[in-house]
Amino acid sequence: MTEVSTRLATYLDQRRRLGEPGIVPAGLAAGEILRLAQARDGVGADSAATDAAGAARVVNDDYEALRAAAMACTRCRLADGRKTVVFADGNPTARLMVVGEAPGAREDATGLPFVGQAGRLLDLMLASVALSRRDSVYICNVLKCRPPGNRNPQPDEIESCAPLLTRQIELVAPEVLLAVGSFAAQWLTTSRRALGKLRGKVYSYQGVPLVVTYHPAALLRNPGWSRLAWDDLQLLRQVMDERGDA
Ligand code: URA
Repeated sequence: MTEVSTRLATYLDQRRRLGEPGIVPAGLAAGEILRLAQARDGVGADSAATDAAGAARVVNDDYEALRAAAMACTRCRLADGRKTVVFADGNPTARLMVVGEAPGAREDATGLPFVGQAGRLLDLMLASVALSRRDSVYICNVLKCRPPGNRNPQPDEIESCAPLLTRQIELVAPEVLLAVGSFAAQWLTTSRRALGKLRGKVYSYQGVPLVVTYHPAALLRNPGWSRLAWDDLQLLRQVMDERGDA
């Protein structure tokens, strides 16, 4: 387990002992939480296409048309180097929509967002507040195609991809949004401030409550930020609890 996972596990354990609500059942170490979340979720194709129950409720012609448009998109230079378009994963009927930055190498190879090391930490972070990728979260990115060498998204690439994300949010119509990392946070808040200055409050994106937190890849590089990320996840849990069940 990485240092940040270990720290998160220790922190979770402390909060659990203090009886913090929203914490996964007592006695589960972080590694176990992650394994449970992964076993429950499996590794599958984008649930938008395969979850029949979800499809009946949310995935309509417009969503499928948007997905098809994304899969064929050549609006920017990233189309030239990609293996796949990474549209989304998780449950399109979920109350929570997570928006990340852009696919990396593993995401480009598999067509699924957040399946590499950062994705495993994201799953753990979500599991710490009783959210699982398959059941209770829909995950996508600001960019649907991998920037070469995992470089930062360029402004014109974000601009080209923005209509897809705008429409994706409209069609999925989440109750709550979580931005992970500065690119998603800045795009959704329309602020240029650094993530450290943006986090810690609830925003509104088109009337949808929005919480922002560190990107899991940034947490892997800076384990000292785990405590702040934990606070952000608690804020997310609070916003979700205030708005309804589960
Ligand atoms: N980082 C992201 O922001 N998104 C992914 O899908 C993978 C890594």
